[in-house]
Amino acid sequence: MARTIVVTGSASGIGEATAQALEAGGDTVIRIDLTEGDIATDLTDPEAAATVAQKVADASGGVLDGLVANAGVSAPSPLSLAINYFGTVRLIEALRPLLAASEAPRVSVTSSAATLQGNDPELVDLLLAGDEEAAMARGAALADQGPEVGYANYSSSKRAISRWIRRVAPTDQYAGAGIGINGVGPGQVFTGMTKELFSSEEGRKLAGDAMPAPYNGVAEAKHIAAVHAFLVSAENARMTGQILFVDGGFDALSRGDDIWPSA
Ligand SMILES: NC(=O)c1ccc[n+]([C@@H]2O[C@H](COP(=O)([O-])OP(=O)(O)OC[C@H]3O[C@@H](n4cnc5c(N)ncnc54)[C@H](O)[C@@H]3O)[C@@H](O)[C@H]2O)c1
Repeated sequence: MARTIVVTGSASGIGEATAQALEAGGDTVIRIDLTEGDIATDLTDPEAAATVAQKVADASGGVLDGLVANAGVSAPSPLSLAINYFGTVRLIEALRPLLAASEAPRVSVTSSAATLQGNDPELVDLLLAGDEEAAMARGAALADQGPEVGYANYSSSKRAISRWIRRVAPTDQYAGAGIGINGVGPGQVFTGMTKELFSSEEGRKLAGDAMPAPYNGVAEAKHIAAVHAFLVSAENARMTGQILFVDGGFDALSRGDDIWPSA
């Protein structure tokens, strides 16, 4: 059955490929991006979520079947917190009532394999506590120490969104309303975000050393899109609260096999 799915960050990379994959499967896609798509808006704007929810309600007749919350940046600055965490959480929460009206509502979030990388635990705690002012100040202090330390804005935003997904998934508001919510954690993907990095030999080596991908190497956007398309489909009827690392084996390589508590 045709489903109506919102895709954010749909003008480029993973979002664009996901919108195309869903449409190819017969779904109706509502595209959201900064300046393009059905709804053009800056999702870092605290007012954006309510406006988007109203427009999506008007376009979908009040029933939304799926959301691919994908828009994001990899800036070593608090901008990563503003879109990857706060903008994403606000939008998911604003669309939740429309999702709850669907017979098979699903949310899939583009997190990142950066979830597994070093981060700033204090910042992660501030994000999960929803303390936007203190989180942005902490992120700015990290950014002031240069891009290497500032990268913790990105890795912390992704650790926090991955944890938020697991936190809300089994609750009454999500599981209780039939809303499945999962995350996809891409390793490295050829998109607008990584174009500059992959354009030089030095950048490719840096990326490969930081996140080795023994299984088929760097991904294309369509490989991540295929996983999102399954996660927001009605067929995904039991999986929730999972972060699926689509990372060419980086998770298995870096964390090994002994990752579950024994007692
Ligand atoms: N490319 C990678 O290697 C990689 C790896 C792991 C995770 N990711 C994640 O994938 C997601 C998509 O990134 P991509 O690689 O396709 O990059 P991209 O730059 O090609 O696409 C990102 C899209 O998001 C939009 N966007 C950014 N900020 C926005 C805002 N404030 N409001 C509305 N739209 C906004 C951009 O305009 C752009 O169209 C991001 O969340 C990113 O963190 C990417």
